[in-house]
Amino acid sequence: GAPAQVVAISRGPTITQFGVEPLFLESRGGVRTRVRVSKIASLADDLALALAAPRIRIQAPVPGHSYVGIEVPNDEMSRVALRDILEGEVFKNFRKPLAFALGRDVAGLPSIASIESMPHLLIAGTTGSGKSVCVNSILTCMLLYHTPDDLRVVLVDPKRVELTGYNGVPHLLGPVVVEMERVIGALQWITREMDKRYHLFAQAGSRNIVDYNAKMKLQGQKKLPFLMIVIDELADLMMIAPEETERTITRLAQLARATGIHMILATQRPSVDVVTGLIKANFPARIAFAVASNTDSRVILDQPGAERLLGRGDMLYQSPDAPAPVRLQGVFVSDGEIHKLVDYWRDQAGNTNPYVAAGGAPRETIPDNVPLKQAPLWEETKKINGDPLFDDAVAIVRKEGKGSVSMLQRRLRIGYTRASRLMDTMEDKKIVGPPEGATQMRQVLDYGDVPPPQGGESK
Ligand SMILES: Nc1ncnc2c1ncn2[C@@H]1O[C@H](COP(=O)(O)OP(=O)(O)O)[C@@H](O)[C@H]1O
Ligand SMILES: [Mg+2]
Repeated sequence: GAPAQVVAISRGPTITQFGVEPLFLESRGGVRTRVRVSKIASLADDLALALAAPRIRIQAPVPGHSYVGIEVPNDEMSRVALRDILEGEVFKNFRKPLAFALGRDVAGLPSIASIESMPHLLIAGTTGSGKSVCVNSILTCMLLYHTPDDLRVVLVDPKRVELTGYNGVPHLLGPVVVEMERVIGALQWITREMDKRYHLFAQAGSRNIVDYNAKMKLQGQKKLPFLMIVIDELADLMMIAPEETERTITRLAQLARATGIHMILATQRPSVDVVTGLIKANFPARIAFAVASNTDSRVILDQPGAERLLGRGDMLYQSPDAPAPVRLQGVFVSDGEIHKLVDYWRDQAGNTNPYVAAGGAPRETIPDNVPLKQAPLWEETKKINGDPLFDDAVAIVRKEGKGSVSMLQRRLRIGYTRASRLMDTMEDKKIVGPPEGATQMRQVLDYGDVPPPQGGESK
């Protein structure tokens, strides 16, 4: 056997950690030897069976303690609300730039990080493990605390579902990039922006962006915003152009910190051909959500463990300055919260912030002599005068012959405020009539080029 005693218990949102101290084994000769830590660690699967727990992770030993941590899933996971952390003392006293709430640890304490000090973040995990929720929570924190003067964002989302909802937010340097062919162009533009910033720093005699902005403030000049690039699915990019992607990302990663440029990469395929050694070496801050195997875990964290995570926001966070990864339950941000924030910024961009041109791309950040290849990235901005979903909304009501706010909410997966604004715009443009009856259904008045739906005039 392996005698041991429980000396500490901490209950977190997802797991409870039992701190177990090894006891002594007495051999026939009366010699007492301590149970080996590795012996306890090897019992993970037996313990899981005995407790009927899906997965148990054993941390041997827990850093900073003289015990082994046995992490047992709670029967019910409690959600970690973003707001509670943001309103707490820990966050308020956290002074680093580009701060965001990551989650809560096994003792329930909030964990806060700063992209600025990372300076780049790599996120991996299988589908459904919580990558997108994590990326959204980071973006939410950024949009909550930064104006477009402080922070600019470039979003890349080949799946077109996770990040396209941010279109129209004035922090975006261009519409969310959904076509892979344009990504390299966008990355190259950022590389040039980085070179440009180095130039500016040299002229001003500054070492980095903080230094430079402090100088500019003294002289009453404009400061440079931080620039954040988020790529949701690195694998897609590595498939199309592995060498170029690796080269550009590495170069950016190595030189970007001083210029205030930060990257967040997410992937569901943590294999060595996606997360290459070169990319890894430049991304010291990493988050592993649940992965399929300990090989995957090793690719991201350089050690096993992530294969024992439970999914849905259960993560191991390796901070660049910590000796070992920490287990956290990630914060959860609802779609509703994101919509509210996005709507708020869209309103700001449309009405009150003259600094931002229509569609959210400030003129001076659009490169002067963009090569043809990447021009479309910026061209698209013009269309987003108002809501980028407007055309889709029109197409839907025309196809149905009628429409209501709740129908738009459902079909476009958007919030009430946004759907009703789309509907009002359509009414203004005389595409639909006023709402009628209890269902608030509206008749289509203008079908454009679309033939009215079969079955004639809807009743
Ligand atoms: N931090 C979290 N807290 C609670 N539930 C979560 C959390 N992260 C993810 N989930 C749940 O898991 C689902 C999948 O998460 P998602 O981020 O879309 O996964 P991925 O992008 O890795 O495929 C979410 O819809 C949500 O229900
Ligand atoms: Mg996702």
